Amino acid sequence: MQAVETIKITHVEKSSLHQIDWNNLPFGKFFTDHMLEADFINGEWTNIQIRPYSSLQLSPATAVFHYGQAIFEGIKAYKTADGKISIFRPEENWKRFNLSATRLEMPEVLEDLFLEGMRQLIQLDQAWVPATPEYSLYIRPFMIATDPVIGVKPSETYKFMVILSPSGPYYVEPLKIYVEEKYTRAAPGGVGFSKNAGNYAGSMLATSIARKAGYDQVLWTDAFEHKYLQEVGVMNVFFLIGNTAITPSLEEGTILAGITRDSAIQVLRDMGYQVEERPIQIDEVISAHKDGTLREIFGTGTAATIAMIQQLSYRDYTIQFDTTQWEVAPLLKKNINNIRDQIVPDTRGWLFPVNY
Ligand SMILES: Cc1ncc(COP(=O)(O)O)c(C=O)c1O
Repeated sequence: MQAVETIKITHVEKSSLHQIDWNNLPFGKFFTDHMLEADFINGEWTNIQIRPYSSLQLSPATAVFHYGQAIFEGIKAYKTADGKISIFRPEENWKRFNLSATRLEMPEVLEDLFLEGMRQLIQLDQAWVPATPEYSLYIRPFMIATDPVIGVKPSETYKFMVILSPSGPYYVEPLKIYVEEKYTRAAPGGVGFSKNAGNYAGSMLATSIARKAGYDQVLWTDAFEHKYLQEVGVMNVFFLIGNTAITPSLEEGTILAGITRDSAIQVLRDMGYQVEERPIQIDEVISAHKDGTLREIFGTGTAATIAMIQQLSYRDYTIQFDTTQWEVAPLLKKNINNIRDQIVPDTRGWLFPVNY
């Protein structure tokens, strides 16, 4: 492979940074001046370059449009008050990206291309990284199948890209969720653990129905009995019962192994809470609510960070919280923020430096 130190860089002629309203940055709407691009041809990554953000030109027969070999990641970079930019745990995203690639019969991306490519891109567009609390630079690496051929078979060529979006908060208010029993997101043996585009396409109908009914998202359940709880939209989920935080286990391969989930598990343990990764049924959550031991329910994800769930509805049973009284989710969020904002030492090596 071409060494990434030699990534060809073509600079934008005129930056569009001045068009950004830093006080009004909806999630994922604006993109920085440059993007990273590489092509997989003849079994290797080539044409590695950083160039001005622009549209792609692809044949209408391009494989991804028809058979959906498309995977992606979501990562954030943060800027401290003194201008240090770091990416939060991108090595984990690289590993997960390659798990997704393998499951969809796509080529793996080399660590250097993924991490060093991303670092150089962010360094170039560093003026775009917000320093406002709750704001960040959202990083979207993705890979698509590019053979211009119709026919169900793995593509022989692929495109890997990284684009960057300065973004505000994903969710502003605590969430209202209902437990989905009709539609299924994933089943054992399927692709639920991978971050492939089809998983999200398949979730949109149920989510739209939920929105029309006044909810923000659905909480997915298992494919067989619809009683084991899985995950929410773009988040993993935690139930705080007594002093134990319970989160669905990953073994079945039906949920995404969230990196925020993993960070939350480690930080919750530091905070003195027990954490259990295991199957959890809706009945257990309802019993805990009835006997007064259910304290908090929250989601974890890169986009949403730690999102409080103020309402969970299951059939005609509704659990409602006054989230202003919560202690654990807000403190967990603060503790994770303090690591990424470098207010406390990064003892676990979670921060990947961009410009220092
Ligand atoms: C389906 C799904 N579950 C969970 C998550 C949370 O994962 P992470 O914490 O790595 O962002 C995401 C977001 O990436 C997701 O899309």
